[in-house]
This record gives sequence, C-alpha cells and structure tokens, in this order.
Amino acid sequence: MRHEEMQPDFSEIRQPRPHDSAVRHVTGEAVYVDDIREPSGTLHVVPGWADDAVRGTIAEIDLTAVRAAPGVVSVLTAADVSGANDVSPALGDEPMFATDEISFWGQPVFAVVAETREAARHAARLARIVTDALPPLLTIEDALEANETVLPDYQFRKGSPETGLATAERTLTGSLRIGGQEHFYLEGQVSLAVPGEEGDMFVHTSSQHPSETQHVVARVLGVPDAAVTVEVRRMGGGFGGKETQANHWASIAATAARVTGRPCKLRLDRDDDMIMTGKRHDMRVDWTVGHDAQGRIRVVDQRIHARCGYSADLSLGVVDRSMFHADSSYFYPDALIRSRRLKTHTCSNTAFRGFGGPQGMLAAERMMDALAITLGRDPLDLRKENFYGAGRDTTPYGMHVEEHDTLHALVAQLEESADYRARRAEITEANATSHILKRGLALTPVKFGIAFTLKHLNQAGALVHLYTDGSIHLNHGGTEMGQGLFQKVAQVVAEVFGVSLDRIRITATHTGKVPNTGPTAASSGTDLNAMAAKIAAETIRDRLIAFAVEHFDANADTISFRDNQVLIGNRSLSLGTLAKEAHLARVQLSSTGFYKTPDITWDRQSASGRPFHYFAFGAACSEVTIDTMTGEMRVDRVDILHDVGHSLNPAIDLGQIEGGFVQGMGWLTTEELVWDDSGRLRTHAPSTYKIPTASDVPEDLRVALYASSGNPSPTIHRSKAVGEPPLMLAISVFSAITDAISSINPGVVPELDAPATPEEILKAVARIKRTKATR
Ligand code: MTE
Ligand code: MOS
Repeated sequence: MRHEEMQPDFSEIRQPRPHDSAVRHVTGEAVYVDDIREPSGTLHVVPGWADDAVRGTIAEIDLTAVRAAPGVVSVLTAADVSGANDVSPALGDEPMFATDEISFWGQPVFAVVAETREAARHAARLARIVTDALPPLLTIEDALEANETVLPDYQFRKGSPETGLATAERTLTGSLRIGGQEHFYLEGQVSLAVPGEEGDMFVHTSSQHPSETQHVVARVLGVPDAAVTVEVRRMGGGFGGKETQANHWASIAATAARVTGRPCKLRLDRDDDMIMTGKRHDMRVDWTVGHDAQGRIRVVDQRIHARCGYSADLSLGVVDRSMFHADSSYFYPDALIRSRRLKTHTCSNTAFRGFGGPQGMLAAERMMDALAITLGRDPLDLRKENFYGAGRDTTPYGMHVEEHDTLHALVAQLEESADYRARRAEITEANATSHILKRGLALTPVKFGIAFTLKHLNQAGALVHLYTDGSIHLNHGGTEMGQGLFQKVAQVVAEVFGVSLDRIRITATHTGKVPNTGPTAASSGTDLNAMAAKIAAETIRDRLIAFAVEHFDANADTISFRDNQVLIGNRSLSLGTLAKEAHLARVQLSSTGFYKTPDITWDRQSASGRPFHYFAFGAACSEVTIDTMTGEMRVDRVDILHDVGHSLNPAIDLGQIEGGFVQGMGWLTTEELVWDDSGRLRTHAPSTYKIPTASDVPEDLRVALYASSGNPSPTIHRSKAVGEPPLMLAISVFSAITDAISSINPGVVPELDAPATPEEILKAVARIKRTKATR
C-alpha cells in the first residue's frame, strides 16, 4: 500500500482551489511590475538600435540628437558600464550594448533615460549609427553552409546504428521543418531598478530566474551579488521567455539607476520585445528509419539542426532536450541522434515551454505518420506496436522507461473513451465521398522527462515563518507566472499545519530571503519548491510538537494539527495560542527548508546516466476538417487524457493542460515567424503574428486527468509536474492535419511543415495532388 492511501483525509491538497490571485487577476488588483506605484523621481528607459543594420561592423555612433531631445536625462552606451558589458547567462557572448559589431536586427546599442517613456521613445529614434554591412547568415541552410555554430555538435549513439541501417528490411527517409514561436506573454519584459545606499540596487522584475538576474545585474554593475536584491511577485506569463531574457532589461535599468542615482524603469514596447528577445528554436530534422514490413522500428537516425541565433543562451540544454525527446514514446533498438546548434544573425533563441522537447517529439511523430502512411497502416496501431514496453525500455540515452505500463494503459483508455476506432471508420467512409472537405484523426502520446538535465539546478530552498498569532509567512525560490505554483505550495504548507489557506500569506520571490535558486522552469517548480517548503514547515511543526510534549506533558502520538486546531491529547488550542506559548518558551518559529532531487545522475560528457527523475505521460486524440480549396482548418473535437500522478490541485492542473494544449496548437497551426530576405523580423505585433484566442479553443474539448495510482517516484505527495508536457498534446492536431491531407492520395506522405497554416496546408494539398497525377 502506498503512503498516500494510508492517510487519505487531506483537507487542502488534492482540492480544486482556484489560483490564489484569480480574483485579483480579473479585477486588475494583482500588482505587476508596471503597476507598482513609481517612487518619486522615477525615470524611464528605452533601448535604441541601428534600424538599418542586420549584421555589420559599427563605424560610428552619433547620439548628439538623442542627447539633445526634450526630456532626456542621460544616454547610456557601453562606456557607461561600470562592470562587465555582458548579460549572457554564462558564456560571455551577449553584450548589454553592442560595441564593435551588430549581430542581429534589433540588437541594443544604447539606451535613453528620460523623464517620461514617450520622451525616451521619441529620442531613441534620433540616433545615427553607421555600420559597414557584412553578409548575414539567416537560415539553417546558411549556417550549415558556413559551418557556423554557437556550441559544439553533440550526439547520442545506441547500439550499432550503422549495422541496423545496413540490415533493416526497409528504410524510409524524410525531413521536417519546424517553426519557432514567440512567447507572447501578456506582460512584456519589464524591470524597475531602485538605487539604495553604498551602491545597493533593488530590482523589481518579471523574471523566471531572480537569482540569475541578480547575478547578471551585479556583474554589469561591478558590485558583489550581495549588493543586488531582486524581487518578483508575479509575471504576466513567462513560458520560458523570462528564464534568461529578463536579465538584459534588468541590467540596463540598473545601469541607468546607477548613472542617474534615480529609480529607473524599463518596459519594452511590444514590437521591440518581439524583435529583440529570443524565441522557440526553429529546427529542421532529417531522419531515416530502418524497419520491418509491419513497421516495427529497427533503427533510427535523426539529425537535428537548430537555429540558435547569434549567441548560445540556453541552446545547450534546449537542443539536448530535443534529443532526449527524439524518441517520443518509441523504442529504438539502435539509434543515432545528432544535433547541431547553428549560429545565425537573428535574435538569440531561448527556452519556450517544452524547452526543445516539442520539436524532437514532433519529428518522431512525423516519422511514425510517414511510416504508417507508406505501409498503409493505421497510425495508432503502428504507434502502439513501437511503444516502450517490457524488455524494450532503453532510451537512446541509456535511461530506462520504467513506467511504460502507464503509457499503455493511458493510451488504451483514451482510444476507448475517444471512440477512436468507430470514428476512424466513419471518417474514412466520409472522406471517400467528400471531395472538398477532408477530415483527419490522430491519437498521439506524450512522454516528457522531468528534471533539469543540468544537474545542479535540481535544488530548491524555502523560508517559512510562523507568527505568534498563528499566521504563516511563506516564501520559496520559485516564481509565479500564472501556473499556480504559489497556490500549490501554499496548499502543501497549509496541510502540514492543518490550517486553511487563509492562514498562509504567499509572498514575493526575493533573493534576500531564499538565495542561489535555479530558474522556475523544466516544469519542476512544484516538485522542488513544495518539497523545500514542506521541509521548512515540518521543521517548525516538529519543534512545536517537542515543545507541547514537554509543556503539556503530552504523548507526541496524541498531537495532531487539523481543522485550524492543534489537538494535544484531549486538549484543543489554536495554532496561534500554541505559537505564543512556544515563543514565550523561546522556541524558534522560523525555518528554512532545502530539497534536492534524488536519483539523477546524468553525465553529459559520456552521455550516460539518468537525466530524469521520472516521466509525465499524456495522450490526445484530435479530429480536424480541412478545406482543400482554401487551406482552412478547423479542430472539430479533442479528447485529452493526462497523467499528473496524484494531483495537488486538479483545477490548476486542468488549467495547465488546457492552456498548454492551446498554446501548442498555436505553435503548430497559426503562429508563424517571418524574417524577410534581409534578416528583419516582419512579424512583430499581434497584427501579423497570430496567437490563438478564446475563439480558437476547440468547441468540443474533453479533458480528463488519468486515474493514477500516484507517481512511483517519491515526489511531493506523489504528484507529477504539469507545466510543459500538455503543450505536446497538440501534436495530435498536426498529425490529424497530416491524416486529412493524406486521405487525398493514400500511400503518399504529405509534405507538410510546421506551422500548418492555411497557406502551408494548401501547398501540401497541391503537392499531394500533383504526386497523384504523375503516378
Ligand atoms: N502557465 C502559465 N499560466 N504561464 C506561464 O508562463 N509557463 C510554463 C508552464 N505553465 C507558464 C505556464 C512553463 S515554460 C513552465 S517551465 C512551467 O509552467 C513553470 O512552472 P512550474 O515549474 O511551476 O510548472
Ligand atoms: Mo519552461 S520552457 O522550462 O520555462
């Protein structure tokens, strides 16, 4: 029997509590950085760049007109940097202000500090920057030809792929282009830096990684980390786009505050935000699969080409994660997974929900679809036959998929509840007589590895205070970006003290309270921080128990914390009363908590070990209709079954699943980033870049949590991470579109790239029709 089943009477965890800020989000009372009442004398900062340069050597920077513009207090360039002109997370390859060379269109060269934001914006346009143009590398092909990378190539090799390919009964080859994605957080990048005494700097920012923002600001200012304090109450969305990307703007704001001695705020314009900040990596994956006549995979060779932009940023981990998910849910007896991190003169690509995983997984699912179409088999049958299973559980990177039963059971349940077989038959029949509208159906799995693959990031700290009135101050290193982390952690702490949630005060992430944290990312926010907070809370509770045993001469077994009471034998008192008594007896009512994820042993150098603590599973079945005359597409019905272990909060988990799915749908169907031939991003506003809106949510969307017996790994109350995995459920939509196009000419694999915009669908339809004509 599992630990959880022995104590089923939880009062806070497992409950579908709304997000702690839900009401404030909709009333507008939730305070984001730009809502903080500005300290008197606050100045406004706007970055400036060379509008006509994509790549070039800087010959002259003339800022005379900028300095003379009304309202301008100061104009900053690299010469004003007192520390290092370096805002990169690690490698020193991202200057705060370009000095010698412009590396992409939109790279900051200077910043204007003015009395108002409007004055600063106006002045920023008056710069004259002369560059000697150099030919930019823009596409994956450009970079491949020039052999330019931001980081060395890397690969996983399993068994003998060469032998596998030589001996496989058949082989199939293909290539898929996968578009990037703009984060489109509703709150853009923003920082407010307030100078203190002795060079201290306090930074309010919208960052998923306050510790790194602190570190980078300190580096740029040339002061110790201890002189910089970073606070994040909440973000209006991060989605990975504020894991490293907040550092640049916080550093410019802090530099402005140091130079002027006044509080300085930098809030990026939406267009500037989209032009200047990194996005999801676009990729091209070339693959060859060796298989038998039934479609059982013998060997896979995948080459992942990632467009990283001008600097490394997080491309090491992101592209590694593409490789870790290049198997999706399938067993490759032999495998060669290769990756190249290509350097281009475009913005530096970064984390985005799934962190490279979605791209790897999409390529694997395309391979499965191609195999099924070629062999004339139902794609779901082929998928299931290639799933990980007993004796077939080793991944290309050597880790075993221990929980393959969950994958099989979950997919079987969804196949049943979504009525896959009957609908498949009905759609095939309908397509035979419908010539303009074609329908498609696909059921695809998700298996997502949970843990940071950079081992030292798998640690967290918390700080809990119990006050003498019984109220509880909760703080930890995780950040809130809408995902509900703060509420889940509060539920866990409330459970420890047996109190209702209103007794817990959720407080802003603050580098002075919990230091040296990792980013809130890799979906591990709850896994890490709830565990650390639980440890802190239990430390205090244990001290109270020890005190009560002595003070009331009670037996520890008779003491329990529940219903906002502490029961000690047949005595009942409030937590506040006990806290007050304990305080009088000089018992410490504050504690830190620290947690590090067990069982992860990944060694990148030798590509061996166990990178993940466990896997989160899910599956989605999507049905679409395409119009072969216009390329229009409609998602008719979606059924989702997703595994969150024992949910800490089913309401929040369902929200993450729905939101992740819709965001993934946007990535794969409507969101298209377009750079022109000269290297300028042309889609830098909602007018040209289409994210899904409420009306794009499928009308028939059926989401359920898998009835799990709990995470077999010892996570917080046996829950599973939920932040990123659901995004990949949307791959079912892409596969369903592939299926619909394929019905036009069975046996021919549609040449469909992502995103499957109407234009792309129309082209794929035209191509597949042409293929038919030549047969
Ligand atoms: N949900 C909302 N509402 N807003 C966000 O910015 N970010 C996603 C996911 N869900 C995000 C979100 C990403 S990229 C990650 S890694 C996780 O939340 C981070 O939070 P967690 O680790 O607490 O799940
Ligand atoms: Mo999420 S891409 O790990 O911030």
